[in-house]
Amino acid sequence: MINILDIKNSRISAGAADKHDGDVQNKNILEIRNLTKNFYLHNVGREIKSCSNVKFSLEKGQFIGIVGLSGAGKSTILKCINRTYLATSGEIIYDSEAFGRVDLTKASERQILYMRKYEIGYVSQFLNVMPRTTAKEHVMNALLDIGCSSAEASKKAAEMLNYFRLSESLWDIYPNTFSGGERLRLNLAHTMVKKPRLMLLDEPTASLDNKTKVLVKDMLIKLKNQDTSMIGIFHDLEFMDGLCDKVYNISEGKIV
Ligand SMILES: Nc1ncnc2c1ncn2[C@@H]1O[C@H](COP(=O)(O)OP(=O)(O)OP(=O)(O)O)[C@@H](O)[C@H]1O
Ligand SMILES: [Mg+2]
Repeated sequence: MINILDIKNSRISAGAADKHDGDVQNKNILEIRNLTKNFYLHNVGREIKSCSNVKFSLEKGQFIGIVGLSGAGKSTILKCINRTYLATSGEIIYDSEAFGRVDLTKASERQILYMRKYEIGYVSQFLNVMPRTTAKEHVMNALLDIGCSSAEASKKAAEMLNYFRLSESLWDIYPNTFSGGERLRLNLAHTMVKKPRLMLLDEPTASLDNKTKVLVKDMLIKLKNQDTSMIGIFHDLEFMDGLCDKVYNISEGKIV
């Protein structure tokens, strides 16, 4: 396990946010300032503007919904927060429990790994599982990584998989053969079992039936009541009813 003191002492200055913002922003867990992400495609010699000058803040315990057409730049914003993508310019100030206010665009790799493990959960549109890891092991690993005993990890993983109605006959199977909805439910169980303080959700209900969508919504409400702050991308506006404190519409990489 990474020693938190090592990380705090080593590269904190690289990712440390400016201190002059004052108290006004202390209520915010995340502040996105002029976030721009461009991709240069070498094969065609052209730049793609994925998102431009995106600005918004997420208050602690708040849920922000993001909507917009396919290709508008929604996933890019979440990936920049998760640092799957490195922003081209702008700042993403996150109020970390371990490190204080950190600019996620400049934080060290070790800080990012630490925050992904303990603080920030990301449910992607796609499933990413280590090879030769069964579905139940995948969920257990999220807890073992943060120091849970294997008995506790096994119990909590089983509860979460049952909650998301992933059939017990699939628990000891490698998930690369799973259906889209099964993969998504496994992703949700893997991320939510840790109760992260910031959760990023990329279309968490995309291929689910209505009954399972309601389960997802109920779990999101439960986590929100326990102070998890969230940003979620949804195609289904109805699903967000009563869940989101604010909704932003992204068009051509900008909030409109
Ligand atoms: N790794 C990448 N390399 C090049 N272009 C990319 C990359 N990731 C995203 N883009 C481009 O950025 C634009 C925005 O993509 P993004 O995935 O953010 O869209 P989205 O709003 O999430 O769409 P969808 O609703 O279909 O998931 C698209 O034109 C896409 O082709
Ligand atoms: Mg997307």
